[in-house]
Amino acid sequence: MQVLVLGAGYVGLSTSVTLAYLGHEVVLVDINPERVESVQAAHSPILEPGMDELLAEVRSQGRLCAAVDAGGAVGRADVAFIAVNTPPDVASGDANMAYVQAAAVSLGRQLDPSHQVVVVNKSTVPIGSANLVKSWVEDGWRSTHPGASPNGTFTVASNPEFLREGQALSDSLYPSRIVLGTDVPWAMERLKALYAPLVHQSFPAPQAVPRPAGLTTPIPVAATDRVSAELVKYASNAFLATKISFANEIAAICERVGADVTQVMAAVGQDPRIGPQFLEAGVGWGGSCFGKDLSALMHTAREYGLQPVLAEAAVDVNRRQRLWLVRQLQATLKTLKGRRVAVLGLTFKPGTDDLRDSPAETVIAELARLSARVAAHDPVAAEAARQAWPYPAEYVSHVGDALVGAEAVLLVTAWPEYATLDWAQWKDALERPLVLDGRNLWAPDDLRRLGIEYYGVGR
Ligand SMILES: NC(=O)c1ccc[n+]([C@@H]2O[C@H](COP(=O)([O-])OP(=O)(O)OC[C@H]3O[C@@H](n4cnc5c(N)ncnc54)[C@H](O)[C@@H]3O)[C@@H](O)[C@H]2O)c1
Repeated sequence: MQVLVLGAGYVGLSTSVTLAYLGHEVVLVDINPERVESVQAAHSPILEPGMDELLAEVRSQGRLCAAVDAGGAVGRADVAFIAVNTPPDVASGDANMAYVQAAAVSLGRQLDPSHQVVVVNKSTVPIGSANLVKSWVEDGWRSTHPGASPNGTFTVASNPEFLREGQALSDSLYPSRIVLGTDVPWAMERLKALYAPLVHQSFPAPQAVPRPAGLTTPIPVAATDRVSAELVKYASNAFLATKISFANEIAAICERVGADVTQVMAAVGQDPRIGPQFLEAGVGWGGSCFGKDLSALMHTAREYGLQPVLAEAAVDVNRRQRLWLVRQLQATLKTLKGRRVAVLGLTFKPGTDDLRDSPAETVIAELARLSARVAAHDPVAAEAARQAWPYPAEYVSHVGDALVGAEAVLLVTAWPEYATLDWAQWKDALERPLVLDGRNLWAPDDLRRLGIEYYGVGR
């Protein structure tokens, strides 16, 4: 099929590369010329395993090209995805739809009445937005065809995305489920045909992104109405965030009663009704999705006079949990003024270069407020953090530069390279051998045996 994708971020790029790999012809449009140039040069503008390899493959086969303007590609497209950003609107708590609006209007302007297209919302949008997108596409159409009706030329469907950063391509090629929301039969048939190779996994797995062992086919397809599809996304993220906050609430109880949350949640997760994932206690969740999606879901609930008590509690627990490291540090060192503190890990989770709504920012902001001297390290995002975050901190690209002379080491992001830090070597470089493990990454006994004072979350 001819596919158009608006937005070359984590979602749009992964969708484009995946669909091109499956054999579709994809045009990827982004208003950011640097991202477009990077895709054209077969160099991924984002850090994702396998992306460079697959991008090079689909580019060399001529199945994916990128541009700053869709041009005639809208008129040829069988399916046009909107995968632009929907950042939080700080004032209202709802999602900011300005980028989606601009994308929808630009599609409408270039519709070709002789060719039917399914416009697909892949961005995470507030519930009921499909109607808004329809009206914006019509606005675009009317601006170029005064008086004419676009009736029948397009329909809007919802197809939320569930990929995780750091494994975006694996999640795109081997999804847990595909949610298709539309009441229009021809649109549903077209989307099912688009995704058929994914559903039946009828493609050779690329070497760079191997098929997970035990993947069962067909991949489930949830065919729903549009509003339900939109709500699936919010409900999924709210549930996952709540699971983590639940583990953190149990962790706080563990600390008081002398239990170890890693042992507790490991056994809790063995119940198949609960499952082991997202039960890790730590310094809380972050990233570009959970916070804004919970906020948008709560906003919608309140619009209807409902109080979203569970979502509110998940957010409250997370707010408190992000400060766990600083509170523990105060309890141990008492005063923080002038103390040199190493902060390890800045991205919101390992395996990504994404700093959006990262717990590390909350930690560094609070340490700066308390006049500690922060030396922060991240394997990929130290320089980006220096530019993005306005706090007086030193950002270093060698972990040793953060550790030397530190009076405390605070782990925020569980990058694998931290798991293998040789503490026997680094202990002597520390001003004081104090480690606060915000992700329960290290074995407490191993560090304590070396004479390091160790605290983990809920342990
Ligand atoms: N990142 C994730 O893990 C993830 C997972 C699932 C869903 N989502 C949702 O998917 C959407 C996209 O997220 P993302 O992380 O890929 O965002 P992103 O910020 O990485 O990328 C969005 C891209 O859209 C481009 N853009 C903005 N307006 C445009 C326009 N009018 N035309 C063309 N391009 C335009 C931007 O320049 C940017 O490159 C959001 O709604 C997000 O909530 C994200």
